[in-house]
Amino acid sequence: MTYQEYEQAVSKLNKYAYYYYVKDDPITTDEVYDELYRFIEEFESKNPQSVLPNSPTQRVGDTISSGFEKALHKSRMWSLEDVFSKDELQKWMDRVYKFASDITFYCEPKYDGASLNLFYENGKLSQAITRGDGLQGEDITQNAKTIKTIPLSISHKKPIEIRGEVVIFKDEFEKINLQREKNSESLFANPRNAAAGSLRQLDSSITAKRNLVFLPYGVGTGELDFDSLYELMTFIYTLGFKEPPYREICRNATEIETVYETMKAQRDGYDMMLDGMVVKVDSIKQQNAMGYTVKYPRWAVAYKFPAVEKITRIKDILLQVGRSGVITPVAVVEPTEIEGVVVERATLHNFDEIKRKDIRINDKVIILRSGDVIPKIIKVLAAYRDGTQQIVQRPTICPVCSSELLDEGALIKCQNLTCKARVVNSIIYFASKQCLDIEGMGEKIVQTLFDAGLLKSVEDIYVLSLEDLLKLEGFKEKKAQNLIDAIQKSKHCECWRFVKSLGIEHIGEVASKSLCNTFGLGFTKASKEQLIEIDGIGKEMAESIKEFVKINKEHILKLQNILSPTQPKQNKIKDNPFKDKTIVLTGSMTKPRDQIKLMLEQLGAKITNSVSKKTDMLIYADDAGSKYDKAVALGVTILKEREMWEMLDE
Ligand code: IVH
Repeated sequence: MTYQEYEQAVSKLNKYAYYYYVKDDPITTDEVYDELYRFIEEFESKNPQSVLPNSPTQRVGDTISSGFEKALHKSRMWSLEDVFSKDELQKWMDRVYKFASDITFYCEPKYDGASLNLFYENGKLSQAITRGDGLQGEDITQNAKTIKTIPLSISHKKPIEIRGEVVIFKDEFEKINLQREKNSESLFANPRNAAAGSLRQLDSSITAKRNLVFLPYGVGTGELDFDSLYELMTFIYTLGFKEPPYREICRNATEIETVYETMKAQRDGYDMMLDGMVVKVDSIKQQNAMGYTVKYPRWAVAYKFPAVEKITRIKDILLQVGRSGVITPVAVVEPTEIEGVVVERATLHNFDEIKRKDIRINDKVIILRSGDVIPKIIKVLAAYRDGTQQIVQRPTICPVCSSELLDEGALIKCQNLTCKARVVNSIIYFASKQCLDIEGMGEKIVQTLFDAGLLKSVEDIYVLSLEDLLKLEGFKEKKAQNLIDAIQKSKHCECWRFVKSLGIEHIGEVASKSLCNTFGLGFTKASKEQLIEIDGIGKEMAESIKEFVKINKEHILKLQNILSPTQPKQNKIKDNPFKDKTIVLTGSMTKPRDQIKLMLEQLGAKITNSVSKKTDMLIYADDAGSKYDKAVALGVTILKEREMWEMLDE
């Protein structure tokens, strides 16, 4: 290979990496990428003197430092003043309006991570320094070079400091903690700590593994000729930096408030954690005229989101037995309001977590609620302990049926198939909307029927008679008849509902549908290898299916006979724009969501809940939220609901 070919290969690979990491829109396959990478490595090993500093191989974290050197920023890194309400924001605006009357405001997310200052000289990344005290920080250049969203070289040749926040995406954070849990390492409390900790690793190969992301928010020293921050940032993105999921120019308080509310409502859907919105004066001339206080720029403010973390006290720890027998400890906490919702319970996941975090009854703790996820305890405030705290022991006996528990470490299980909690919860699951959808058969009724001895298994549902129900308190003729009708109606259900209702571990709606589409009811006879061949079914899922079928053959057959599920039509679906597409629906549509979903499925589409790189199409209604933004960010094909109807008409 010639040097020229090598140079071309480096530039091509950098382009691939840019589209993959910065744009979230891959333009090649992993295979092509890897092949080109090896090609470059080979050339470099033979010609070490010619290695280009922006070669992707230079990102490999292979330095181990004994400590970080202190380094000065070229110009000071400022902090931001916080405001927490409309009134406080207005006061800040009143102050800036004293400098000028015609101000436009630049609004962007306030990322929750660790700030970093990148210095580029002659277009090369020469130094990366943490914020430190604002004047000097730590030189972590080797670690910064492992971050794929930090360009090693840029086309702007004059010296420039580019500042931004290093974050860890939420899904990556979950993965890291899951791995740490497996390795019995202490968990990171939140993505911010994980990002900051990963950035300051002495062994840069650890930083490299953490998939950190750099999001620029401004420049320090550097000659640039822009008067609008919006335009300046647009220029920075063209240098190869990542854009924010959302930014907006506002002209007054009302517009700022609208953008703030939108960002707040969508924050759970963003990949990264946000703790507020930053409002900046857009004109750089005006910024310069306003200047700085001792700590903050006068021209910017952090409009914080309401806290999702609150301090409370654990009153008790209860044990819940799920349908699979897994015992989940749940903390009962002093009722605490978080973003308009009163939180009374927090999940503790399992007993290993209780031990690792040393959670005790009567401990003061910090709880976190985000989106609709069940609140969790992120930190114990051990300094407040006063001797009244009680340690909870790992249970050895099922709190419901008193049988001996199987302790598998992370999971503790009740193995008694007739344990009341297991039976009741599996019947509730079976009858729920997401499975057989038997109207009127909710938690309470299942419990009543179980207590009356009328339900011992899901099969018993189908032998319930009107007379049985009428004997129960609260059941009049009409209600009883409705329930009997609903039970009868659930027969001949779609095949996937039957599969899902079996409650096989790891097999949810999407997997059930894939199974039925490929094998129909014959999925029980498919081999592990055949199962793995299905898109979306991995090894663990295939093993779970095989194991379940082995143990529950009789039950599956019995239930199949009772229900006679309908098999999906195997006849070929005509070509149409939705066939074989993975589609996400979002927003309030003109027809019930389930109806649209069914219609698209009949056209051969696969409907999933969340937008990812695998999504082919997002169909949205006007009030679409974060899924829309994510789809835009990932470059997914986007279709208005109206356009979908038009295409269908055609
Ligand atoms: S601007 C001169 N913009 O928040 C302006 N900061 O609480 C100084 N941060 O130290 C910062 N997102 O690390 C700015 N969009 C954003 C930001 C942001 C996160 C961090 C930054 C700063 C801290 C201040």
